[in-house]
Amino acid sequence: MVRTLSSATPFSIKKAAFSLMQGELVSFPTETVYGLGADALNEKAVAKVYKVKARPLDHPLIVHISTLNLLDKWATAVPSGALKIANTFWPGPLTLILTRNYIAKDFVTGGQDKVGLRIPSHPTALALLSEFEKLGGLGVAAPSANRFGAVSPTSAEDVKLELGEYLTDSDLILDGGTCNIGLESTIIDFTQGMPKILRPGKISIELVQDVLKCKIETYSSTNKTKVSGLLESHYSPKAKVFLTGNPKPGDGFIALANIQTPKGAIRLASPNNNDEFAQILYAALRNADKLGLRSIYIIPVFGEGIASAINDRIFKASNFKN
Ligand code: TXA
Ligand code: MG
Repeated sequence: MVRTLSSATPFSIKKAAFSLMQGELVSFPTETVYGLGADALNEKAVAKVYKVKARPLDHPLIVHISTLNLLDKWATAVPSGALKIANTFWPGPLTLILTRNYIAKDFVTGGQDKVGLRIPSHPTALALLSEFEKLGGLGVAAPSANRFGAVSPTSAEDVKLELGEYLTDSDLILDGGTCNIGLESTIIDFTQGMPKILRPGKISIELVQDVLKCKIETYSSTNKTKVSGLLESHYSPKAKVFLTGNPKPGDGFIALANIQTPKGAIRLASPNNNDEFAQILYAALRNADKLGLRSIYIIPVFGEGIASAINDRIFKASNFKN
């Protein structure tokens, strides 16, 4: 049971890097959501991540690194397009799926011959990764710090509420404040010829196309790659999420600020724009659960950029099973 949060100071970050080296788990902030990190070379530590999350073993983890110098250690035959994207958007909210090099073992890749890699931009994440690398570490495997299928946490307090009871006293939660972006990284797969977006995020398809100077595909259901965020139902609070219909009095309601709250509904968030919407969506979904609401009505957003990531997540949150 983790009882306290460690505020992210140079000392606690060093301590956290050491804990990772010792095979303990460290939850840390990134600009997207909080991750639950383990030494990506340590099979036992990675197994603990799966256990704490109750995540199926064939769902691969993203390996986080602090520098492009480590790219070739983890990936082989990196296409020039992938390098261009990495140089443009890293550090940042982007994950590349590349053909794995030998150090990326089955226990991290879910048995696939490809590996997910990301350099995050959050200063605490970067500092933790570089301290870990100074100690000889090569990468930190980190999924979002939530139970499988649940909403990703965007604050250290939410990590504690979500996973505190499954973590031990030797594990740590580094508190680096609230995540700026609020939705998970964009995932681009470069292993199958034409690059393909597997999960939309802050780095939009338009931005990626601008850099690559070509049209790229988004995920299709014929793709066999395991991406848990692509499951029909994911990012789900306990309350049922509806994207159409009218809330009854006492139901939760999330929409842009210019949309009025239906009579009797409980307003959970009034973001002023799509970026704010992304930032507070997960906290608002969690708040609905804290309030014990049964239903949440969310009005989808329009526009380019992060809009498609918001709509993707709320659509998946709404795909409950009756
Ligand atoms: O923003 C993020 O990406 C956050 C922060 C902590 O970095 N991490 C995150 O991890 O969202 P996770 O595990 O919750 O979601 C990562 C997704 C999963 O759906 C996983 O299946 C996919 O990335 N993924 C990871 N490695 C992969 C691989 N080798 N091939 C295909 N998909 C992969
Ligand atoms: Mg996740």
